Amino acid sequence: MTPAKAQQRIVALRAQIARDDELYFKRAQPEISDFEYDANKRELADLEQQFPQFATADSPTRRVGDDRVQGFQEVAHRQKMLSLDNTYNEEELRAFHARLARLLGTEDLRYTVEPKIDGLAVSLTFEDGRLVRAVTRGKGDRGDDVTANVLTIAALPRQLHGRAPKIVEIRGEIYLTAAEFERINAERLAADEEPYANPRNLAAGTVKLLDAAEVAKRKLAIVLYGLGYCEPAIVSGQSDLQKQLKSWGLPVVERYWAVKGVDAVWAAITELDRLRRDFAYGTDGAVVKLDNADQQREAGATDKAPRWAIAYKFKPDTARTRLRAITIQVGKTGILSPVAELEPVLLAGSTISRATLHNEDEIRRKDIRVGDLVEIEKAGEVIPAVLRSFPEERPKGAAEFDLSAAVGGKCPVCGGRIARLEVAAEDAEGVAWKCQNYECEAQRAGRMEFFCSRRALAIDGVGGVVAAKLVELGHVKDPPDLYDVPVETLATLNLGSAEEPRVFGEKNAVKIVAAREAARGLPLEKWLYALSVPDVGETTARELGRRHRNFAELADSTLLRNVLKKAALVAQREWEAPASRKNPAKSDEDKARRKELCARLDAEIAALDAGPLAGVPADVGPAVAGSVQEFFASVPGKRLLAKLRQLGIDPQGTVATAGVFTGKTLVLTGTLPKLKREEAEQLILAAGGKVSGSVSKKTSYVLAGEEAGSKLDKARELGVPVIDEAEFRKLLGSPHGAA
Ligand code: IVH
Repeated sequence: MTPAKAQQRIVALRAQIARDDELYFKRAQPEISDFEYDANKRELADLEQQFPQFATADSPTRRVGDDRVQGFQEVAHRQKMLSLDNTYNEEELRAFHARLARLLGTEDLRYTVEPKIDGLAVSLTFEDGRLVRAVTRGKGDRGDDVTANVLTIAALPRQLHGRAPKIVEIRGEIYLTAAEFERINAERLAADEEPYANPRNLAAGTVKLLDAAEVAKRKLAIVLYGLGYCEPAIVSGQSDLQKQLKSWGLPVVERYWAVKGVDAVWAAITELDRLRRDFAYGTDGAVVKLDNADQQREAGATDKAPRWAIAYKFKPDTARTRLRAITIQVGKTGILSPVAELEPVLLAGSTISRATLHNEDEIRRKDIRVGDLVEIEKAGEVIPAVLRSFPEERPKGAAEFDLSAAVGGKCPVCGGRIARLEVAAEDAEGVAWKCQNYECEAQRAGRMEFFCSRRALAIDGVGGVVAAKLVELGHVKDPPDLYDVPVETLATLNLGSAEEPRVFGEKNAVKIVAAREAARGLPLEKWLYALSVPDVGETTARELGRRHRNFAELADSTLLRNVLKKAALVAQREWEAPASRKNPAKSDEDKARRKELCARLDAEIAALDAGPLAGVPADVGPAVAGSVQEFFASVPGKRLLAKLRQLGIDPQGTVATAGVFTGKTLVLTGTLPKLKREEAEQLILAAGGKVSGSVSKKTSYVLAGEEAGSKLDKARELGVPVIDEAEFRKLLGSPHGAA
């Protein structure tokens, strides 16, 4: 591989991993299996090793994932929560043992082998035996306080039995049983809500609900297996810990092995693989740990993972079958996604006839052709995926897959024009074929479904099936048309077929009507996101929603004009630079003239940055500005705005209005007891104030928390008033806090 090729692949892998991390940790909705995810990570690590010039400190190979979401209090762990290194085969396991043997100077090592529970990691803090806090792993050093939600777990004792240390952090995994998972998904399906992909995602999604009453409706379970901070230290190793956890009355793994030597470890893993399907929780591997606490200490840890433990991941179930055809699905933004149509095959307990193929590039990279024998995988309950083909058994004449040719150069749903375009991260990564017809039925249905999804307006009850039916039967074109669909029409909607009708029902219809009414009052940022404006993701929508009062202002946005103006000035500045490579200065006179011009351009750019564009983040760049302007000037964009007006829906932006901090500048420093930094900033902005990064004589207040540093000293030196969170809240007039 050439360095250039390697760099390309590294960048692509990092983008893919970042996207999968977001889907897995934050949204609990992964699109690919752990196995594929790990394979990507491994490929990246290998490339970074081969081409160290492209290694970076923030590469996903060097950090642990981040599961924090907005709305929870952040809490520091007393002892960092680490991740584990993975192995997939016996050799790597033996290499792990060999490394430890070398490090510790003895072959004679004792290990425990435990199931690796596929759930969500949490840390429980007990003080004098009382459960005081439950925190997610977060990004390792600090996580989200989910105590209220964890307290809904009936089997978790609030008080440790017997003698307990003064302070102890106990680590474990929250999960849902398969039966509970199925019960909840059956309910969701009945109401046309997107079912959860697997018990792990549902457990993670549940732990992160902000309403503990909702959490209580789903029966979460927990199993504990690890130790964090412990004062005083009382356990001598992992099997000792297992016994201790049990005697404290905590739920523990139903089976673990305490063995000597690597052969016995392998035997235990093999046995675990035989037994694990009968456990209450899902398992995706075995965790092998050095048993002796002194040896653990000696082996130590990297930033990411202990050297004394390793995860052996079981391979997900795979099967081989024929790829009969590749069909194409059209999504809400018009992206054409290939789907594998398979000869039905039994895999992990169910018959599989379709699988995802991700995108055209992936099909080419894996050299998958129609007619091929392929290997498919089903990990957890994630959509099955095609892993590889067997070119050596390929039927003669099987041609390389060409998406455009497969659809005859037009959209398979509406027959509209298609184009190969760069697509943004929300849909997929890289280049894809897109249907160019905004009125395409598939796009309409996709937008409708998205409009109603949890992350948009949360009109529960309108999932993929209902959305597609509403579009197909001509009840709606654009998402807001949903408001015109009478409740009777919804109630009698036939989601089945003429032969086998399945009526949506009155109860569900009434629920939708209530939800759509509730959505009227949602802020501009939610509506903007929900309407699927090209290039406007969640973050961009939030930023725009904070800077515009309503849709009318956004459609004719001065801010966006300024963003584009700045981009034009920057481009001109580059072109006019005397040393410009494409346009070098021709004479001394030319040089002097252009120097002057550049100085003028610089001043104009600086004035924009300091004035109308101050504080505007990079998310609102020229590409976004162009897309938004273009969209609201287009026929469909205008149609949407007219419809909203007609419906009397006028979502409001959260623009800083005059408030207690109008004309004031605040500086934040240190960690506040309750508010997160972003929350404090939002409160300040909402109250009309500004937030600055440095203290000067012009600073009105310094809002200081714990471990405040030099900014606090500076404030004292300049005589700037210093306030704490309580005083800050008092100023805002909200004793209990708005957060
Ligand atoms: S030990 C410092 N034991 O798997 C040791 N972890 O992929 C780290 N996990 O972060 C944890 N079952 O959330 C340990 N029996 C087990 C486990 C287990 C599941 C999770 C844990 C960890 C992740 C690493």
